[in-house]
Amino acid sequence: MDEICLRTAYPADAAGIARLDVETWQATYAGILGTPYLAGLSPARREAGWSSVIARAPRDVHLALAGETIVGFGTCGASRSDPDFPGEIFTLYVAPDWQNQGIGRRLLLAMFAQLVDRGYNAAVIWVLRENASRFFYQRLGGREVRRKLLPFNGTQVPACGYGWADLRGYLSARTGAAESEG
Ligand SMILES: CC(C)(COP(=O)(O)OP(=O)(O)OC[C@H]1O[C@@H](n2cnc3c(N)ncnc32)[C@H](O)[C@@H]1OP(=O)(O)O)[C@@H](O)C(=O)NCCC(=O)NCCS
Repeated sequence: MDEICLRTAYPADAAGIARLDVETWQATYAGILGTPYLAGLSPARREAGWSSVIARAPRDVHLALAGETIVGFGTCGASRSDPDFPGEIFTLYVAPDWQNQGIGRRLLLAMFAQLVDRGYNAAVIWVLRENASRFFYQRLGGREVRRKLLPFNGTQVPACGYGWADLRGYLSARTGAAESEG
């Protein structure tokens, strides 16, 4: 397997993230969100959104690269509305061909470290209930702490929030485990 490098984003990454964003949305949400909506997603339109996200908070956009190719991305920051979980993971997507190789875990841990650096010791991530990827968050120690209906394209989609109440403790326990394995 190519070596995977993690780094935060530069403005020139917007097009590559947008392409992967559309690819992973279409793969992940087929059968969950409407086909016309997914078919209509446009990398060009998403690129503009990504450019402004990167311009606003480049250190909150985390990338996994195989060579020059972006194969995973995630974003984090202050949570939208939850005082118990002041940090939030907004997105985490790994290209279908690169899943199950530890990239999602590495991106999630990098974002947790970034949230801790910013002073947020608890974090939540919202996942559509029908998305089996939510079991990934369970595997990584998240607990289902919230439920809500997300307004989406004129309907409401059930979602659950997975929470980590002590990111610093979580990261140091993982470092300890890695040291004792190594
Ligand atoms: C969910 C996702 C980010 C996980 O990334 P990944 O690189 O495939 O996962 P990793 O290889 O890092 O997996 C880490 C661990 O979680 C487990 N895991 C991964 N996906 C899982 C799933 N869907 N259900 C249960 N466990 C899962 C792995 O087996 C591994 O277990 P281990 O601790 O025994 O090694 C990725 O599969 C993805 O992008 N999915 C589609 C997009 C998506 O739904 N994103 C979330 C939107 S909120």
